[in-house]
Amino acid sequence: MEIFPLTTERLILRRFTQHDLPAFSGYRNQPEVARYQSWSSFSAADASAFLEQQRELAFDADQTWFQIAVERKEDAVLAGDVAVHFFDGGRQAELGVTFDSSCQRQGYATEALSRVIGLLFDDLKKHRIVATVNARNASVVRLLEKQGFRREAHYRENIFFKGAWSDEYSFALLKHEWKAG
Ligand SMILES: CC(C)(COP(=O)(O)OP(=O)(O)OC[C@H]1O[C@@H](n2cnc3c(N)ncnc32)[C@H](O)[C@@H]1OP(=O)(O)O)[C@@H](O)C(=O)NCCC(=O)NCCS
Repeated sequence: MEIFPLTTERLILRRFTQHDLPAFSGYRNQPEVARYQSWSSFSAADASAFLEQQRELAFDADQTWFQIAVERKEDAVLAGDVAVHFFDGGRQAELGVTFDSSCQRQGYATEALSRVIGLLFDDLKKHRIVATVNARNASVVRLLEKQGFRREAHYRENIFFKGAWSDEYSFALLKHEWKAG
């Protein structure tokens, strides 16, 4: 059964389509969006390859990253995306989140993420959700902590990232912690 689209008060969470690609590569190319991400620039060819790979993907398939498009209801603008990595034979998931800079600081990322967390814990019965972030990426640290994620690790200079050694934090949230919170 297809899970998408899902809705929140201001957003629609759905699969990516061909129409999203200009906006998707647009925000991936914003320097402030790419700063702590694996890419530095994102071409039209990268965007097509991304869609090709996502098109066939089932949601909740072990060892895959599924990217959920987040559309603003009011004007159908692609605000950003929430990426979900399914691992541990279906028991756990990892999150990544990226929003267009013009759609940041308005609570959209919080709204989308909490819907995805609800989906993972309530509907898909995941036990634990994790996220690994650059320790300097203050906005994602705040976002995760507001959702109740605990910082479980601080890795010192564990990643050679964009020309320099960087620290990473590992965050986690258990289903029963989320229920309690
Ligand atoms: C990480 C990221 C998604 C966080 O998004 P965000 O836009 O800061 O998240 P939100 O809008 O949900 O919340 C941020 C702030 O907006 C505020 N806010 C909430 N609702 C609001 C509203 N209706 N109007 C204005 N501000 C609002 C919140 O209070 C919050 O402020 P605080 O952090 O000082 O408490 C975003 O910074 C991003 O895409 N960064 C680039 C990509 C990246 O590095 N991703 C992480 C890789 S894992």
